[in-house]
Amino acid sequence: MSDTTTTADGAAPRTDSIEDLAGFSRRSGELFCEEISARELARRFQTPLYAYSRQALEHNIADWRAGVAGTPHRVFYAMKANGSLALLELFARAGLGFDIVSRGELARALAVGAKGCDIVYSGVGKSLEDMRAALAADVLCFNVESLPELERLNAAALEMGTTARVSLRVNPDVDARTHPYISTGLKNNKFGIAFDSALEGYRRAARLPGLKISGIDCHIGSQITELEPFVHAAHKVLDLVEEISGAGIALEHIDFGGGLGVRYGAENPPAARELVSALSQCVRERGFGDLPLFFEPGRSLVAQTGLLLTTVEYVKPTAARNFCIVDAAMTDMIRPTLYQAEMAMVNCSEHADAAPAVYDVVGPVCESGDFLAKNRLLDVREGDVLAMTGAGAYGMSMASNYNARGRAAEVLVDKDSAWLIRRRETIEDQMALESRLPLEVL
Ligand code: LLP
Repeated sequence: MSDTTTTADGAAPRTDSIEDLAGFSRRSGELFCEEISARELARRFQTPLYAYSRQALEHNIADWRAGVAGTPHRVFYAMKANGSLALLELFARAGLGFDIVSRGELARALAVGAKGCDIVYSGVGKSLEDMRAALAADVLCFNVESLPELERLNAAALEMGTTARVSLRVNPDVDARTHPYISTGLKNNKFGIAFDSALEGYRRAARLPGLKISGIDCHIGSQITELEPFVHAAHKVLDLVEEISGAGIALEHIDFGGGLGVRYGAENPPAARELVSALSQCVRERGFGDLPLFFEPGRSLVAQTGLLLTTVEYVKPTAARNFCIVDAAMTDMIRPTLYQAEMAMVNCSEHADAAPAVYDVVGPVCESGDFLAKNRLLDVREGDVLAMTGAGAYGMSMASNYNARGRAAEVLVDKDSAWLIRRRETIEDQMALESRLPLEVL
């Protein structure tokens, strides 16, 4: 066994705790989600299991809703982060709107009672069918990302005898200082309309009879942990707002997108209320304080509300590394392998006779990229339940069936109740969409 407490490269290994997480606590060595121990959840619902805390969700909603006197703001939850209907229902009940990127997401928003006026539609590749469905639902605003999309939306609206409210998503060419895969506001990204073409885009939109200009939009990336890139982008957007108003085109809102980061490890991101307050201040300073601000947060509303619970199948010491092989995999949580994301990992029950060592926590999938955490100082035994914290965003929503693995179950914990909000996917579920070839062609 490579039984050291340092990593192969001599660095100090990472250990995590669950302090500072609303909804979660450690009591006599046991991890609790509200009033139920994580081990009890794993026993009742099996693993891999996503467990969300309602209290944590409400904490985050309150942070985002805490507005700034005098500057109206609306929050549209970007459901790509976690589209579970039960969570959406809680957001809808709390008065949040939804930021959607597909007809599937539209249907989910409508299913939990959202009205068109609660929905903004983002995304770089809206199809004609997408547009028709969203026009039929009378969505509040389409965030349009290219001039050809403007033309297509205009045609779709005219054909349906209606008008599409639009914002142009402008690309402010600001470095969000985040992982390249989740950075979207640089000019070499596929997103948005180039800053220099935006005014022309607005002039064009103003001439199209099927469109009504509603606002302006930008989204510069995700997991942004400082205010500065947001403020920088806001000032660039406000430069454009001045030009657009100067051209006699009235705007009714400014949408600053999503992107606020969370604390997965050592990051220290601002609270949502600090971001709202900083951007409200920019807008007021520049004389546009009467324009409502829209935000499209995903991660910051849900990441810290969720645990991914997983059971240790094997502890496998080797000469080079110690592997802790668990029943969750990259199919349940792809962030570590896709973005080199370092997600926190803790043992749900602390052992009295502690024997920590440095482990890579890996799944059963046939890929070396199938890991959940590397170089972690953990005390793990076969049968232990581990929890990845911060797993509520871009976990379940990016899950796959690779290796014919069924997707995990999800539960929502509310004090001492746990509701199964999505049952575990069965092997039959996975095969249900497929058809066999007729016998004669075999
Ligand atoms: N609005 C737009 C137009 C977006 O593209 C996104 C995220 C959001 C809002 C929400 O951003 P958030 O507040 O969640 O940062 N799978 C990646 C993140 C991809 C984000 C894509 N767009 C991850 O796991 O890090």
